[in-house]
Amino acid sequence: MIYYKVKKEENQIYLIEDKLDKRYTSKTETVFTQCNGYLGVRASYETKMLQESRGMFVTGLYHKAGAHEVSELVNCPDIIEMDICINEEKVNLDTCSLKGFRRSLNVMTGELETIVNCDLEKTKGICIKTRRFASMKNRHLICHMIEVSSEEDIIVHITTGINGQITNSGVTHFDKVEARVFDKKYMHTENSCDDGQVFKVMTVCSSNRDASQEPIFGLKRRSIYGNYEYTSKSNEAFQFFKYSFVDTGTNENIADEETIKQVLGTCEKIGYEELRREHIEAFDKLWNYAKIEIEGATLEEEAEITFAQYHLFGMTPSYTSEYSVAAKGLTGEGYKGHIFWDAEIFIMPFFTSVFPEVARNLLQFRYKGLAGARDKAREYGYEGAMYPWEVAKTGKEETPLYAALNIHTGKAGKVWSGIKEHHVTADIIYALWDYYKMTGDQKFLLDYGYEMLIETAIFWCKRATFIPDKNQYEILDVIGPDEYTEHIDNNAYTNYMAYENVKIAYETISALEQELPKIYMEFAKKYDDLEDKISEWKLFLEKIYLPKANRELVIPQDDSFLSKKLLPNIEKYRNSQVKQSVLLDYSRDEVVNMQVLKQADVVMLLNMMPHLFDEETVKKNVQYYEQRTLHDSSLSYCAHAVACAEIGDIDLAYHFFEKSLEIDLDTNYQDSIDGIHSASLGGIWNCVIRGFAGVKSHMNYVEITPNLPKKWKKLKFYLKVKGQYVRIEINKDKIILKPENDIEQKVSFKINGQVYLLEKELVL
Ligand code: BGC
Repeated sequence: MIYYKVKKEENQIYLIEDKLDKRYTSKTETVFTQCNGYLGVRASYETKMLQESRGMFVTGLYHKAGAHEVSELVNCPDIIEMDICINEEKVNLDTCSLKGFRRSLNVMTGELETIVNCDLEKTKGICIKTRRFASMKNRHLICHMIEVSSEEDIIVHITTGINGQITNSGVTHFDKVEARVFDKKYMHTENSCDDGQVFKVMTVCSSNRDASQEPIFGLKRRSIYGNYEYTSKSNEAFQFFKYSFVDTGTNENIADEETIKQVLGTCEKIGYEELRREHIEAFDKLWNYAKIEIEGATLEEEAEITFAQYHLFGMTPSYTSEYSVAAKGLTGEGYKGHIFWDAEIFIMPFFTSVFPEVARNLLQFRYKGLAGARDKAREYGYEGAMYPWEVAKTGKEETPLYAALNIHTGKAGKVWSGIKEHHVTADIIYALWDYYKMTGDQKFLLDYGYEMLIETAIFWCKRATFIPDKNQYEILDVIGPDEYTEHIDNNAYTNYMAYENVKIAYETISALEQELPKIYMEFAKKYDDLEDKISEWKLFLEKIYLPKANRELVIPQDDSFLSKKLLPNIEKYRNSQVKQSVLLDYSRDEVVNMQVLKQADVVMLLNMMPHLFDEETVKKNVQYYEQRTLHDSSLSYCAHAVACAEIGDIDLAYHFFEKSLEIDLDTNYQDSIDGIHSASLGGIWNCVIRGFAGVKSHMNYVEITPNLPKKWKKLKFYLKVKGQYVRIEINKDKIILKPENDIEQKVSFKINGQVYLLEKELVL
């Protein structure tokens, strides 16, 4: 069940919270975040509240606060806070007599609106409406307005500015803060980190009324404020606007004050509504291709899917290859803003299929991370490129070495995922290849892809151990996707993915020798024993151990999993509102030695390589592993949904799909407080398009094998295949494919088993 109400009006969809339940303050701050792929501002209320956790995050602004810390996404100064006094009485939602409270997020525009009706001790019948959005037209801009009306004439006093006292849960990243006012109206702070990074913000306020007096500016430590005072007649709405411009970088590549002043001056001139119109126009260009239309879906489903896509846009630095997508997007401090396999396996498919230029940027980010991956391989005694489990900006490993202290023992447990979770390297190559199949972008391969293939294949050959007795390669001592099992041998997911990684490298680089000998020679110069390496890859492919289904059709998750004992009373933990509650009753070592999964593991494998397994095997393994899975990671349900859709078990697929829809929106107020679940939101798109529509990329065609949920009558969406937008319409009895423009490059589709060349509209 979801906590928020849903409304659709004039084609706009809203998630609504219609009462102030303080238990949900932090959750809703996350879920209703204003984000545009460059910055994210949590949906904290303007006036300070007891439960709040304010935050603004800017993509790529990572900093390491000390020798014992890892780099983290910096929680930047706050520009949302406003101290509002009416007739000299402070508005405080924790203490005032609240008559009404309603806040809503328009999931198509990201605009947040809050309406508060309250009585203060002296002044009654006050209505405060606030709105704000992070612009898609100019991603550095946050536009904000408040409207105050009351039954009596009032004097409104607003104190607002830039609050630089924000920290990452107590850790401060800025070394130096300079604050000043330009032209008696533009408040400005420039914060610098000790590594040369700069964060600048300038803000300007205006109103639809003349101020009673000139604003009075003041400084507090690391902060700057303006005090504004206005008189407003009863029942006349008084409006106050605040426009803020945010930039980060180093002193060389950051906007200068004059330019920022001009932008803000224009904002003041054209006003909130016009800025909003421009923002929506920019956003609509994306929705034009992104919006999924489903006939037969409930309004709630439509809102949940659109919400997921709003955040996919909001979390992704689509315009650059300098950064990638964090596990919590730009909505919170969780996971320190680090980037995991979530980006390639869960989030990228949407971009690869609809906005491949964005996927290209995300992959190029990984290309830039090759240096960090090579360093990591060397550090562990391998060769080639071993991608880190968690990265921030530079591409080097950022996984903390130790988890939080155990308060009883005073000792911290080791975080093994940074040391042993190696599948991320193959995941990146899987995503790269998916991108290549969808786009045919040979240039990407030439510029970046071939090198990534070569380096990763070299790594896997070194990572695997040849076991002479068995005459096979094995991958020993790893962690697979299920992080409740550590130090295991031959994790099925890892072995198969490594195989796929080396296979792509082997086939592509061997073909290069025949098809583009000049390019091959360049690589042969760079890697002087390339031919030997290719032979090694061939041997690896012949000899790598790929766990097969046993007599009961169960694919062993790893060598020891099937011999472990079951977790007693597993339902208690599956039904618990508290995530990872099993770790409250059992030590990590005990959990590691039981048949209990944190998240999809073998099911992930079925999901990614469905062609390898027959229907019966998939069914058996989904059942077998699901019964042992706690879904303690948000990545789990969507994976189960896609695997079930693949084999046509639509009821079960739909059940898991519904669970994924609720991950950030459910009634559990403890969920999502430190940020949204980026991967799960990407997974929602995967469920609909890769799962129910059955879209799969192949080298020469895109396959569509739909299996729609019973209630859905029609599903419409766009795919971009080989540079060509194609509108897909899946009905119960026919499929219509319509290219958007004249076809320039051959595009083929395999529909329900048969391949068609798309030349004009196809009705099948
Ligand atoms: C999951 C990982 C995931 C990470 C970030 C962990 O809890 O086990 O698979 O990559 O969260 O979302």
